[in-house]
Amino acid sequence: MINSLPVLDTVVRDRTPAKEIAPQRNPADVVRMGVIGYGYWGPNIVRNLSGLENCHLVTVCDKSPAALKRASRAYPGVHTTTDFTEVLSSPDIDAVAVVTPVWTHFELAKAALNHGKHVFVEKPFTSTSRQAEELIELAERKNLRIMVDHTFLFNGAVRKIKELVQNGTLGPLYYFDSTRVNLGLFQHDVSVVWDLAPHDLSVMDHLIGLAPEALAATGGNHFNHLADMAFITVYFPGNITAHINVNWLSPVKIRTTLIGGRDKMLVWNDLEPDEKVRIYDKGVDIKNGQGVHDLLVSYRSGDVLSPKIDITEALRVEMKYLYDCIAHNRQPLNDGAAGLRVVRLLEAAEASLKNRGSLVQF
Ligand SMILES: NC(=O)c1ccc[n+]([C@@H]2O[C@H](COP(=O)([O-])OP(=O)(O)OC[C@H]3O[C@@H](n4cnc5c(N)ncnc54)[C@H](O)[C@@H]3O)[C@@H](O)[C@H]2O)c1
Repeated sequence: MINSLPVLDTVVRDRTPAKEIAPQRNPADVVRMGVIGYGYWGPNIVRNLSGLENCHLVTVCDKSPAALKRASRAYPGVHTTTDFTEVLSSPDIDAVAVVTPVWTHFELAKAALNHGKHVFVEKPFTSTSRQAEELIELAERKNLRIMVDHTFLFNGAVRKIKELVQNGTLGPLYYFDSTRVNLGLFQHDVSVVWDLAPHDLSVMDHLIGLAPEALAATGGNHFNHLADMAFITVYFPGNITAHINVNWLSPVKIRTTLIGGRDKMLVWNDLEPDEKVRIYDKGVDIKNGQGVHDLLVSYRSGDVLSPKIDITEALRVEMKYLYDCIAHNRQPLNDGAAGLRVVRLLEAAEASLKNRGSLVQF
């Protein structure tokens, strides 16, 4: 059993007051799930759902019979179907996970909500912010939960970093600088911005916790009209700058984030097996001299510390959290509003990219 998530609970209170909703028709604390989409990512969702106490995986749906064959082999007791309307209309299903390509998220999630189901939707939430707003309104009207798969919020390193930001260890933040590059996997329907950047943008949004002021993005496309590399800069109040580098044309895989604060700085290297987060007691102190050339700069260089990180699979923590939010009527941290904030940033990045880095104001 995974421990409760105090940091997540704190953030929920910070951002959106937890809203109690009417108890659902569900028998005591059991959540019955249907999953639509069993391609590349779907099996990970199904694997993590299937091991959860009080969570019943009822149906796996995919329009590909070959995908369903794989699902049946792995989970012999689970019902499978190629028809998603069967999942939506089933009275034995309380919540639906939408794990299909981005362009299908809106229609499937909308239909699920209209059938009275809670929804778990893959990242990015929707293809447009208008669609996200519509789903949020619909869920509110029907007293249903939306949860968007912002997987990295449940990663042990990110949960530890959130703690360090919240308890003031880093001091006021200066910057967030994230690199997520590798060779491929090229997607045929979305650019590298819509495929990879939702991870970094959701982590940035979670850790900085402020509404952005402006964004600029540059990048390029070398094979079709979809960007395969992008450099996104986001400006926040308080002189905090975020930078995100996503690239499908890198010879090496890098998953590294630098976060600089006045008092401490840290490096999160997600590919590092042991010391994923290192906190550096490094910084700069500046005293003004008489003129601009007389700045007295002193550099501080102290200890390096690597905190203990919970290495439980992020998706497992997230699925448990999904269960808790549905069973106990809690507003998730990664709710529709969080999904919408990321989609707005993606739209702005795309618009700026088209104009070679023109500034988009929020
Ligand atoms: N959170 C993460 O780390 C992460 C990682 C990878 C992918 N994803 C997201 O997961 C989603 C799916 O990505 P993928 O790589 O698994 O794609 P995929 O193409 O490998 O799989 C999608 C599956 O959905 C099925 N499908 C599509 N429309 C359907 C419908 N109407 N009814 C039933 N089945 C349908 C397809 O047959 C396919 O098997 C995307 O939104 C992607 O962004 C998230």
